[in-house]
Amino acid sequence: MAREIGIGTVSLGWMGQLHTRAYRRLLDHYPECELRPRLVIAADAVEERARDAADRLGYEGWTTDWREVVEHPEVEAVSIAAPNYLHREVAVAAARAGKHIWLEKPCGRYPSETYDIGKAVGEAGVMSMIGLMYRHAPVVEYAKEIIAAGEIGEITHYRGYFLADYAADPNGALTWRYKLGGAGLGVLGDIMPHSVDMAQNLIGPIVGVSAQRETFIRTRPEVPEGMGTGHFTVEGGTRGTVENEDYASGLVRFENGARGTMESSRTCVGPHVRNGFEVNGTRGALSWDFQRLNELELYRTDGTGDRGYRTVYAAPGMGDFDRFQPGAGISMGYDDLKVAEAERFLSSIADGRQRAASIHEIVSTMRVVDAMERSCETGGWERVGDSTGATAAAGERRAGGGA
Ligand SMILES: NC(=O)c1ccc[n+]([C@@H]2O[C@H](COP(=O)([O-])OP(=O)(O)OC[C@H]3O[C@@H](n4cnc5c(N)ncnc54)[C@H](O)[C@@H]3O)[C@@H](O)[C@H]2O)c1
Repeated sequence: MAREIGIGTVSLGWMGQLHTRAYRRLLDHYPECELRPRLVIAADAVEERARDAADRLGYEGWTTDWREVVEHPEVEAVSIAAPNYLHREVAVAAARAGKHIWLEKPCGRYPSETYDIGKAVGEAGVMSMIGLMYRHAPVVEYAKEIIAAGEIGEITHYRGYFLADYAADPNGALTWRYKLGGAGLGVLGDIMPHSVDMAQNLIGPIVGVSAQRETFIRTRPEVPEGMGTGHFTVEGGTRGTVENEDYASGLVRFENGARGTMESSRTCVGPHVRNGFEVNGTRGALSWDFQRLNELELYRTDGTGDRGYRTVYAAPGMGDFDRFQPGAGISMGYDDLKVAEAERFLSSIADGRQRAASIHEIVSTMRVVDAMERSCETGGWERVGDSTGATAAAGERRAGGGA
């Protein structure tokens, strides 16, 4: 018999609403889950959105003060889907209050903030889950198995990319995402962590990087704080400065000797969310693109002798596919990956066995981002893990606190 677990959520923008839907759908897909989510209270700084928590989303209570969520005695686990500038404060407070946390990437504005969260989570001994859900796509889990079993040989080449157009319109509003005080890093924090986590999940640790970055659209229309969520355009009005990067890319060196590249852009006209990877081994290759979530391109050299990739479709037996669909060719969707993430979070709490991706994986990811940021400054190769804290401190000085 499932035990109830009190859930609190901080922020109800895109991700906060998605976490909420994931909790609501959890037992439909994972009926044996030992924990039954009870939506206790949610917070958003915008009162209308906070009220919506109770009116529409199914929470028993709402507030405009996130501290009420973290301190609520009936809340055992907190979803943190706030803008980056709140990650550290909310996550550290939640961990210190003994609450388990499901926290969105990048877990702070800068790697130094992620490390602080990691320390607090470790000291409190609470469970953590990070919004790195692309790793739960069934064909990605299948790709991981193929690579780990050595079926495509020694991995020699890796290309990871996240090419998006969500900021390609110069009239896209200057929201918190473009400010040092609000987001901190630009794409190095926003989407590069997805590519780095995926690479380390599939291939193993990245040990060296050489990176570059650029801001292609340097001004955007100003909007009042708290207006809107997500991405929207504004015609006319005053334009303010974009304070972080639109683009970053780098060469990477893996511990196992593989070499590769990583590229992230939010202003790339053409692809919408071209988030994926290409892996080449000595006996085969595979590739995946989020825009074709349920398809893996796979090439094995030891088969019939045919040359070329073939498409392998997500099917029962791959990852959690059969939790969502009964047969190959019936598509899973983006929101489903978040339900799978919710299951890993609550199962970790239920039996005390931490599932990935936890705070450990995002700390490891942000060490790579940290090295990329250093490399952007120095122009040379940087070793992962060599952080002196200097660039993080410089970043924090640039950010100047607050949003
Ligand atoms: N895992 C993923 O793939 C993924 C995708 C999108 C966003 N994210 C992450 O999720 C987080 C939120 O992104 P989003 O797209 O939902 O943003 P959003 O702009 O849609 O929503 C942010 C929400 O935070 C609220 N907010 C602002 N200040 C607050 C405060 N002091 N207290 C409570 N609420 C406050 C805003 O009113 C808004 O409702 C970011 O850290 C982002 O990096 C992750």
